[in-house]
This record gives sequence, C-alpha cells and structure tokens, in this order.
Amino acid sequence: MIEPKVITLPKFADPRGNLSFVEQLNHIPFEIKRTYWIYDVPGGESRGGHAFHKNEEFIIALSGAFEVVVDDGKNKQRFTLNRSYYGLYVPAGWWRVIENFSTNSLALEFGSTHYDVRDYVRDYDEFLKMKQNGEI
Ligand code: TYD
Repeated sequence: MIEPKVITLPKFADPRGNLSFVEQLNHIPFEIKRTYWIYDVPGGESRGGHAFHKNEEFIIALSGAFEVVVDDGKNKQRFTLNRSYYGLYVPAGWWRVIENFSTNSLALEFGSTHYDVRDYVRDYDEFLKMKQNGEI
C-alpha cells in the first residue's frame, strides 16, 4: 500500500517575501484534475471524515496550520501542516480527517479526479469492512 507523505516544496526566501510552487507529476505525484480550498473554519470544527476509492490528494496549509489524520484501518498517522512549503500527499484508500484548524487557516487541496460523489466512503465501519475485504 502506498503511504501518505509530507513533501517539502521549493522555497525561494526573499526579503521581499517568500515564494513557493508546486508542479503536477513532479512535487505532486499525479495529474491535477481539481483544486479546492477550505477556509473560514470555525474553532473546533473538523473536515473530511471519509476515504476515496480513486481520488488522490495533495494538501497544503497555505496559511495558518491544521492537522491531517490519515488511517489505513489499522494505524493512524497525524501530520501537522504549519508551513506553506509543506505538502501532504494522501493516496487513495486512506480515511482522512482534517482538524485543529488555526484561526484564519487556509487549506488548499489538489485532487487527481473530478468531483464524484460515488468515489466517497463516508461511513467508517463500512470503510473498515471494505479494507478487510480488499475493496478499497
Ligand atoms: P466534502 O468533500 O464532503 O468536504 P469535507 O471533506 O471537507 O468535509 O465536500 C463538501 C461539499 O462540497 C459536498 O457536499 C460537495 C461539495 N464539493 C464539490 O461540489 N466539489 C468538490 O470538489 C468538493 C471537494 C466538494
């Protein structure tokens, strides 16, 4: 199974302001089909709580900080994204939750597929069963 991992992005430190960038099929290990962002998250809220059959994700904390918990049905890993030059790659088939958003944080997400409601698994018990049966 492919593991989630943090990828350190290029950073051009400059007294005028820093610059970072991402390229598909380079830092992002898939072709980008979709970009969306999560913002104005009220204190204490979490987002996600689902897995994808096909969609791979690449998540950046463009501003502020938050934590991404990824779970393969056996083990959980917690990643803190608190710099805009870190990207978290989440392969398909992992349960993921985003939580502990700091005030005014901005989560930018790239996806490898167009939005498809059928690609989601939203029930954790169903996810665990699918994992046991090798269906995700
Ligand atoms: P959802 O993926 O459930 O959000 P999260 O995982 O952060 O809790 O998406 C919330 C709503 O936004 C959902 O009802 C459908 C819509 N949506 C789109 O239409 N296109 C998209 O690319 C995404 C990510 C969501």
